[in-house]
Parts: sequence; structure tokens; C-alpha cells
Amino acid sequence: MDWGLKNRLARIIKSYDRRGVMLAVDHGYFLGPTERLEDPQKTIAPLLPYADSLMLTRGVLRTSVDANYPIPVVLRVSGGASIISKDLSNEKITTSIKDAIRVNATALALSIFVGASYEHESLVSLGNLVNEGEEYGIPILAVTAVGKELEKRDARYLGLACRIAAEFGAHLVKTYYCENFEKVVDSCPVPVIIAGGPKLATELDALKLTYDAIQAGAAGVDMGRNIWQSDHPVAMIKAVKAIVHQNLKVKEAQELFNKLKLEPKSDKSAKPAKLTKPTKTKSKSTKAASPA
Ligand code: 5RP
Repeated sequence: MDWGLKNRLARIIKSYDRRGVMLAVDHGYFLGPTERLEDPQKTIAPLLPYADSLMLTRGVLRTSVDANYPIPVVLRVSGGASIISKDLSNEKITTSIKDAIRVNATALALSIFVGASYEHESLVSLGNLVNEGEEYGIPILAVTAVGKELEKRDARYLGLACRIAAEFGAHLVKTYYCENFEKVVDSCPVPVIIAGGPKLATELDALKLTYDAIQAGAAGVDMGRNIWQSDHPVAMIKAVKAIVHQNLKVKEAQELFNKLKLEPKSDKSAKPAKLTKPTKTKSKSTKAASPA
């Protein structure tokens, strides 16, 4: 693997534990103004300090994230179908690699739709995107999308989709957690991270999902709604992160969440330090110190 590609991947999947916490806020590309993501800037800013990377479209990146904030960006570059269209699998690459480089993307993400009507197009898009990514040292995240067919989420189907993504050269795969998830991970030669999926009934359910996925070998999460649709999103991302990077058990993570949710909301938001000229300090220069 080329140095640049390896280096970019290490900004997403940390080399010290081979895990990562990606915050997913790309939902608007097919869902429009998703609940609690209506004003992306407001949703994203308080969570940025706790995410290892941020997955989103170039539109939300440019309008709603401060360019001075040094977070690795996983840029969604596929799209073309909305939730009200007939077939969600009808996606193509919509963002050029030039523009991805212009916004300093650390990785590129696209959806593949194995078994769906546009399977062929989405897999060819993956192959082409890997070709471009390899040329510039940018890793590719393949998302094994199921469209509206949520019942497809079992180890047989997801294992097939993840393996195909890796065979096409994806450097990282995102899929759903399912029973026997270790089979999905074991048959995929690149790191697998999980999506959270639609908001679960309780935060405890989402913490269990995270824990079970990590135990089964997931390299982390690319989680959205189960974090920012929580009434306590900062507490939630911190608890998820503690499971991923500190191996907290579900009960410990729940206790952490319950403690953190009581803290005042004035948490450190993603406000980068203002870029000002460095102040000149009087240095003890060798000239001053040396005899006249
Ligand atoms: C949609 C996506 C989302 O980023 C993904 O589903 C993660 O978000 P959530 O945890 O809300 O499911 O790739 O295709």
C-alpha cells in the first residue's frame, strides 16, 4: 500500500488499536432534511471534537463545517436517487476526484447495491473509484447499501456484499451489524465498520450494538442517527467512542452515558482557535547573549 494511502487510512482507522469512530452525517443526500440534521452545522459542531472522522457530502462540508477544524473527511461521492424515487440503487459517482482533493478529503465513500437492479453500475463505479483513489493515494470506503430492503441484513447477504467490495479493491467497508457478524468480518480481508441504522428504541440498544460489533471483530462504527437523534448526542458519541477505543463493556458505557448526560450542555464545540499572527516574543538571541 502506498505511503499516502496508508497514512490517510490511519487517520480514519487509528493505528494504535486498528479502530475508528466515524460520525455519519451524509443522510441528506437521499433523505433530505433528516430529523435533527435539519441544520447540519448545529448538529455537527458539538460532536466534532469526539469523532475520529466525519462522513458527509461536499455540500454540507462546504456550508456547515469550519474549514479550520482539522477533522479527517470521508467524502460521500455517490448519489442520484432520493427516498421518494422508485429505485434507491440508481446511484452514480456525483463528485469528481478533483473536487474531493480540493476539499482535502481523507477518503471517498460510495454505496454499492449488491443484488439490486443497479448492482452492475454500482460495482463498476466502485472499481473505477478505486482506480482513481489508488492513483492519488486516497482510500475508498464501500457502503453495502440495502435501500428500502432492510430485511436483507443477514450474515449471508452482508458477507457476500462486503467480500465483493473488498475484491473490487475497497480499502474499508461499511455494513450493518447482524447475527453471526464474525462471519462477515472473517471473510472480508479489509476492515469492516458498522452503520448504526435507523434510531433504536434506547441508547442502551445502540451501545449494545456497538459492543457486539466490536466483539465480533468490527473495526469501529460509522454511526449517525443513533448519536445525533439522541437527546444527549455528546454523551452518546463519547460512550460509543469509549466502547470502540477503550473496550468499555455495555454496562460501563451505559453508566458513562448516564453520567455525561447530566453535564451542562456547554460542551466544547468545534471552535478552532482564531488564526492570528503569532505574537513576537523577545527571544534571548545569541547576538544579545554574545559579548559585544
Ligand atoms: C447512508 C449512509 C449513512 O451514513 C449510514 O447509514 C450511517 O448512518 P446511520 O448510523 O444513521 O445509519 O451511508 O447510506
